[in-house]
Amino acid sequence: MITTKASLSDAMTERETRNRRLALEAAAESIVLLENDGVLPLAPCPVALYGAGAAYTINGGSGSGEVNVRHAVSVLEGLENAGYTILTKDWIDRYDAIWKVGKEAFLRENRKKLKLSVKVLADLMAAEYRYPAGDRLTEKDLADTGTCLYMLSRQSGEGHDRKDEPGSFQLDETEIHNIRFCAAHYAQFVLVINTGSVIDLSPLDGIAGIRAVVYMNQLGMEGGNALASVLSGAKTPCGKLAVSWPKTYEDVPFGSEFAKPDETHAAYKEGIYVGYRYFDSFGVSPRYPFGYGKSYTSFAVQTESVSRKGDAVTVSARVTNTGSAACREIVQVYASCPQADMDREYQRLVAFGKTGLLAPDEAETLTLSFSLSALSCYDEAAKETILEAGSHLVRVGQSSRDTQAVAVIRIDSRIVLSRHNALFPAQPPVTELKSSVAVPAYENLPVITVPSDLFPTKVYDYNEPQEVLSGSASEKLATLNTQNHIRFCVGTGLFGEQAGFRVPGAVGHTTTAYIDRGIPNIELCDGPAGLRLQRRSTRDRNGKIRPVDTSISLYEFLPKLLTKFFLGNPEKEPVLYQYVTGFPVAAALAQSWDTDLVYRIGQAVSAEMTAFGVKVWLAPALNLVRNPLCGRNYEYYSEDPLLSGKLAAAITCGVQETPGNCVTVKHFAANNQEENRYFVSSDLDERTLRELYLKGFEIVVKEARPRALMTAYNKINGTYCAESHALCTDILRTEWGFTGAVMTDWLSTGKDRANEAEAIKAGVDLIMPGGKKPLAALTEAAKDDPSLQQALRNTCSRVLRLILD
Ligand code: BGC
Repeated sequence: MITTKASLSDAMTERETRNRRLALEAAAESIVLLENDGVLPLAPCPVALYGAGAAYTINGGSGSGEVNVRHAVSVLEGLENAGYTILTKDWIDRYDAIWKVGKEAFLRENRKKLKLSVKVLADLMAAEYRYPAGDRLTEKDLADTGTCLYMLSRQSGEGHDRKDEPGSFQLDETEIHNIRFCAAHYAQFVLVINTGSVIDLSPLDGIAGIRAVVYMNQLGMEGGNALASVLSGAKTPCGKLAVSWPKTYEDVPFGSEFAKPDETHAAYKEGIYVGYRYFDSFGVSPRYPFGYGKSYTSFAVQTESVSRKGDAVTVSARVTNTGSAACREIVQVYASCPQADMDREYQRLVAFGKTGLLAPDEAETLTLSFSLSALSCYDEAAKETILEAGSHLVRVGQSSRDTQAVAVIRIDSRIVLSRHNALFPAQPPVTELKSSVAVPAYENLPVITVPSDLFPTKVYDYNEPQEVLSGSASEKLATLNTQNHIRFCVGTGLFGEQAGFRVPGAVGHTTTAYIDRGIPNIELCDGPAGLRLQRRSTRDRNGKIRPVDTSISLYEFLPKLLTKFFLGNPEKEPVLYQYVTGFPVAAALAQSWDTDLVYRIGQAVSAEMTAFGVKVWLAPALNLVRNPLCGRNYEYYSEDPLLSGKLAAAITCGVQETPGNCVTVKHFAANNQEENRYFVSSDLDERTLRELYLKGFEIVVKEARPRALMTAYNKINGTYCAESHALCTDILRTEWGFTGAVMTDWLSTGKDRANEAEAIKAGVDLIMPGGKKPLAALTEAAKDDPSLQQALRNTCSRVLRLILD
């Protein structure tokens, strides 16, 4: 008998209304005002609205990160809700027709490629319809108003990266023409950018009359209302960039080598110099710096004190609203470490905070703390995490390029925080950059000293025994043999058995084979911008559940004859409903710099998990934004590991506060491109790996104790992440103390991919989505391999704990 918690009613619940309100708050909080000569805010008035995203506002990226909501508010609708009159409905209708013709042609073209092969299906799933720019505007399209908004939109997503070409990273010729045309004809012209990641705005430099630029990002189901609230001034913009915007792609270090088709090695030649760490250390001016954002008001930030207690440094900063609109302000603390023995970045973010809503003239003191270990670096030759001797400058400000030096932390001699094994040897070393901008000397700053015996050196025992189960879980484990262990460690497959408890739209299910022994299956669902479920499904007489609205775009490519077979018929069978909330994508949420808000989103997602019976949420994703072209940047928070880690920790706490619900931090690790993602090796120095690509994971594991983690598709220095004992055990469990379950990313094991037995031995607990092939492979491999049998017992114990907790 299949059971489900999907509802038989499509009535709007109180939870849905509450979460929608939170989605609106989060969306408005995340918008970044890039330019404004005073034209904004603009009271509701007649408006000319153009651009792909007017009615087809892009709410989130594509692929597994999509969220299927009851209704998403477009910019057109949001502006009308706020009282603006849209005068260009004809243009918008014409665009609608162009969009539909283009989409049909795109589907036709792709249907020709349809074949029953994993590669073809994966390619199709990744195939993406690029929104057309629409017609070139001419005089006849002009509306009788002085106010105009142009929506510049881009879709991107899983399975492919963007390209440095028109229509993708660059503006295309029609967009440039239309923006120029609007800027010339409308006195109050505002450009809105509706993309999940950076694009090349350099063509704007030659266009006069762009009065304001708003970075909307991709804001989920309330995007249109949120944008309208910022444009009208009902909400004063307070978001700040979580990535640097280069002037053009040429300014991205080693950009020309990024994600080359069929390239099986991606050398991270820039090393630690990613994002602002590059721009600031090499004297390259970005178009917009990390941490930047304007507002309708202004703030003064005055550092009141910097002090040290134990290993914690605390900065007190008094923030005063010196302008005329009520708003919140984000304060950022950076540190410049001495450039002596090790090559160091010019500065790194070490703490941040956000005030409450401050009325004009109102002030608040923010207390921002960081541990001295935030100043550490990894000395690869010595295999030590160290604090270097010398002066560490602390600066406080409102963006990475707008700070004041406020104190010096002086460390007299090198301090070894921890000793490690060499876990990821890269042969030969990969980093090619050495910083070229020295940190200027500062005088007359308060000096904070650090006793050299403050930190006992930590030494790890990499042979630590695996932890053991207790209580009923351990009793259950005692009744299971190797074959049972294998069943627990392998999911039921992509289109797995329909039995046990089901969440329509779930992408992963643990085994249903032991329900009669009191061990239920659990359901795993995607994120990160909400839960990816099927909105509507049917259930036939035998209890079989079929989608009505599918949660994967692959179905679009199937011929009608086939979809009839896969899809349920809502006319004939009872319909099951699951209405979830589409929150802003992670890249947008990061612009809020608001850990409390993100924590509340975690709580809201958790309430939906409970409502529909999802136990494991496949989010947050916290890969670093290494290059602006990565297709999945919209799912990731930032180019900075501290910001990423703190936000991921906040959402994790929010979700896991409800007993039984848990997150899955992903994709562990260095999964920074989509091209060739199943085969590519991210080649990088252990120092870069530890200081950047693992740092966010370390923060979330240590601060929020996520109960599950997903490995990445790629290899690191030649070893598949799923096969890496260094990653899945030595770093994760031994060094960081992770006690949860590790799962593979979907379809990352098998022929020409990671080996299941090696993965289990490395410390992976769940092979996902699983199915017959991995079951058979593990059964065969375990026959004569006692060490694999022991590893299976350990992994099974961790899966059991995940299920039974
Ligand atoms: C993605 C994961 C996702 C999984 C399940 C994979 O393709 O990389 O992020 O959770 O699919 O949908």
